[in-house]
Amino acid sequence: MVGIDFGKPLFTTEEIQRKIQELGSRISSDYAEKDLLVVGVLKGAIFFMSDLLRSLKISVRMDFIHCTSSKGSHPVQIIADMKEDIRGKDILLVEDIMDSGVTIDYVKKMLLARGPASLKVCVLLDKSERRKVRIEADYAGFRIPNKYVVGYGLDYKDRYRNLPYIAVLPLEERQG
Ligand code: IMP
Ligand code: MG
Repeated sequence: MVGIDFGKPLFTTEEIQRKIQELGSRISSDYAEKDLLVVGVLKGAIFFMSDLLRSLKISVRMDFIHCTSSKGSHPVQIIADMKEDIRGKDILLVEDIMDSGVTIDYVKKMLLARGPASLKVCVLLDKSERRKVRIEADYAGFRIPNKYVVGYGLDYKDRYRNLPYIAVLPLEERQG
């Protein structure tokens, strides 16, 4: 990105694509006999979701939930909910990163209350040492250390999502 030195990527475009192919194969075989509805959590999941869907060998449908996480008393806000009735359906929730786990836990419980046949979670990145609630992803791409990362959908103050790779945010950018 112009003017910012992100250094060596944590994960290159090629590494990300290879991992997505692996996840896509697993999901394709696990849901071969099902009618899967993939639900992306915006905005962070945008690139992961679009590449993951194109790696699948099965016919799926897609929808989105737009939510934000804040650190206040109500940690997760739903900005736009999905319209579809998910009762009796097989759902795969797709998110960029699981950090404390609060966001996915919240969205998962909200969707489970609507009575899907099944609900699994797929995240590209798992910062497991930061977990505050008991939740694990059913499909996780990379486990990462406790570093703030940007790119490939992940933002800092809504910027850097369009980096085609994932990098650790330089400290000076974070303070500025
Ligand atoms: P949670 O703590 O698991 O609820 O994480 C919620 C959200 O925080 C994620 O969906 C991301 O949008 C954001 N987040 C957590 N860690 C990072 C990071 O390293 N980079 C960018 N966004 C992050
Ligand atoms: Mg997010």
